[in-house]
Amino acid sequence: MNAELQVDDLSVRFRLGARGRAGIVTAVTGSSFTLRPGRLLALVGESGCGKSVLAASIMGLLPANAEVAGSVRLRNAGLDGLDLLDAPERRLRDEVRGRRVGLVPQSAATHLTPVRRVGVQLLETVRALRPGDADPLATVQRLADDVGLPREMLDRHPHELSGGTAQRVGVAAALAGEPPVLLADEPTAGLDRPLVDRTVDLLADMAARGHAVLLITHDLRAARRVATDAAVMYASRIIELGPAQDVFTDPWHPYTRGLFGALPDRGFAAIPGHPPDLTALPPGCGFERRRPDLHTCVPDPRLQWHGDRAVACAPVPEEVAVA
Ligand SMILES: Nc1ncnc2c1ncn2[C@@H]1O[C@H](COP(=O)(O)OP(=O)(O)O)[C@@H](O)[C@H]1O
Ligand SMILES: [Mg+2]
Repeated sequence: MNAELQVDDLSVRFRLGARGRAGIVTAVTGSSFTLRPGRLLALVGESGCGKSVLAASIMGLLPANAEVAGSVRLRNAGLDGLDLLDAPERRLRDEVRGRRVGLVPQSAATHLTPVRRVGVQLLETVRALRPGDADPLATVQRLADDVGLPREMLDRHPHELSGGTAQRVGVAAALAGEPPVLLADEPTAGLDRPLVDRTVDLLADMAARGHAVLLITHDLRAARRVATDAAVMYASRIIELGPAQDVFTDPWHPYTRGLFGALPDRGFAAIPGHPPDLTALPPGCGFERRRPDLHTCVPDPRLQWHGDRAVACAPVPEEVAVA
């Protein structure tokens, strides 16, 4: 089963205090992108820009003080273009989560039940997501092998695992149902380089086999290794989107240039200053407040498309626009 996930004009706000009297946090603003079979979209941006909230909103996993707008349509998945934002909780639970859209949550370790062995937890996940599986134990072992989780770890309890090992359990659980759409939120946090490569290569393999994959990461080297497409988020907005090769080698938005500027081995270049306060967002991208020397914001948060690339709040480079 192949599926496409089309995110349109997605916005998420959190009300703070009773009825939002203590303020509104705007975590995601007007974000649009599509996850396609066979493609791996890397979503990058500094901490706190809204990446995890975006992924959680797609899964319907936000707390009650969240207000979500826009649409998230799942196509070609036997659900007739279901809008996940409108779908009842029961459908999300029975038909979507794990089966059609998988999530590796950020800090996957905290999602494990502390009192049960991880192998047992994976076995339950496999049984729930693959009811026809004749040998679920063998599937658990295969998943462990796929993510580089030594089999003896399956007998351990979550607190006996290192952060990186627990992270791999989270990846294995998300892969159990072979979901056609996979959202991986910082799946390589806490892993050393060989395991980072192994984990992202596994995601790239899934994409190559027709899955649609979103990789949220702080690890620029990992993103460059496997992404076919890239989206850059700043202060709740996707400000640049396009084929990975283009975005990584010739970024259009000054923020993207800053982030990728030092071509670091891993992580991003530190950009002086701070992103804007998400309780008082400016009308545009906000980067001009941080680096007025680098950016004159054209406050239009909608992405301006040019061919297969897009940029918000900044002009398409002249040499490209006239070409
Ligand atoms: N439940 C919540 N209530 C209020 N604010 C929240 C909540 N969850 C996340 N936020 C805020 O939303 C913003 C985006 O967070 P997040 O998506 O976790 O960032 P990232 O994953 O890019 O580091 C942050 O300012 C965070 O504090
Ligand atoms: Mg996050």
